[in-house]
Amino acid sequence: MTPDLTTTYLGLPLRSPIVASASPLTGDLDTLLELEAAGVGAAVLPSLFEEQIEHEQVDVHELLEHMTHSFGEALTWFPELDDYSTGPEAYLEHLRAAKAALGVPVIASLNGISTGGWLRYARLCEEAGADALELNVYAVEADPAVPGAAVEERTVALVREVRAAISIPLAVKVGPFYSAFAHMAGRLHEAGADGLVLFNRFLQPDVDLETLAVEPRLVLSTPTELRLPLRWIAILRGRVPVSLAGTTGVHDWEGALKLLLAGADAVMVASAALERGPAVVQELLDGLRAWLEEREYVSVEQLKGSLSQAACPDPAAFERGNYMRALVSYAPGAGLRGHDPAGR
Ligand SMILES: Cc1cc2nc3c(=O)[nH]c(=O)nc-3n(C[C@H](O)[C@H](O)[C@H](O)COP(=O)(O)O)c2cc1C
Repeated sequence: MTPDLTTTYLGLPLRSPIVASASPLTGDLDTLLELEAAGVGAAVLPSLFEEQIEHEQVDVHELLEHMTHSFGEALTWFPELDDYSTGPEAYLEHLRAAKAALGVPVIASLNGISTGGWLRYARLCEEAGADALELNVYAVEADPAVPGAAVEERTVALVREVRAAISIPLAVKVGPFYSAFAHMAGRLHEAGADGLVLFNRFLQPDVDLETLAVEPRLVLSTPTELRLPLRWIAILRGRVPVSLAGTTGVHDWEGALKLLLAGADAVMVASAALERGPAVVQELLDGLRAWLEEREYVSVEQLKGSLSQAACPDPAAFERGNYMRALVSYAPGAGLRGHDPAGR
């Protein structure tokens, strides 16, 4: 029997757990159709940024131009930059076009950190037909005068305000840098998040030694980065009643499978599709299907969360005990001999 790959994410039935993460690929209608043909269960559009709405002065074109030339292998898959959403009106237009063209759910994305007038776009995205909204809270808290509690409070207030503005499901995409993330996850749920997207991948600036300039150099993810969302999805599964999506480091079906076993409802993919094209989605789904069949699983639902912390015979495997064990079990040279470049 062919395994059933359907899943439910944010209350939306998805035909497959692989979701196209927000990236320039989902900013282009033709590429969206290719992603759909390859089997994605849903697509998240690139973010509309608070700064774009409030000031309309951020030159997104310039930023993207820079990004595309930072990693040459992706150039073939970058849509024409003219097609990328570059302003609030163009954003809504793209959303409407995506909704009209696609059969799978289309998730709009807003990216910002403060409450205020820009949030009217949450409602406008709903009116333009978005099946759900992803709120990306991408912040680098650099002010020594602002404590963590204030940052959490601001984020919770933001989620509350967006929740009050819309009736479609709301996912919140955040970074991992909270001192007590499990507690914060609960607060985000209480504030109205139906789902969490774990995690934002913070792009670190680099220094160009020729020009002595600080450069916003974008590097695509690697498979080892999967471990961070893997741990936290496993910890949160069954403990905070929200949908969970894993993002960062999914480059192969094994990575997707691990996130599902940990408890993800959806697995998001950006870098792999930028590097290898939308067809990579088909590859992931074929691998998942074959594995499920071989192990006689009938569905993704049956598999989801079976290795979560709550279900795991060794809950410490996801916590501090695992760190101590890993250090003790390290044998000099073993790291190199057993080195798997994919980080498995
Ligand atoms: C070129 C590029 C543009 C991106 N744009 C957005 C965006 O607009 N909004 C967003 O929430 N995430 C954005 N992301 C982050 C991805 O959605 C994803 O979370 C991240 O790349 C980690 O997943 P990956 O390992 O599959 O790449 C972008 C990533 C890349 C590489």
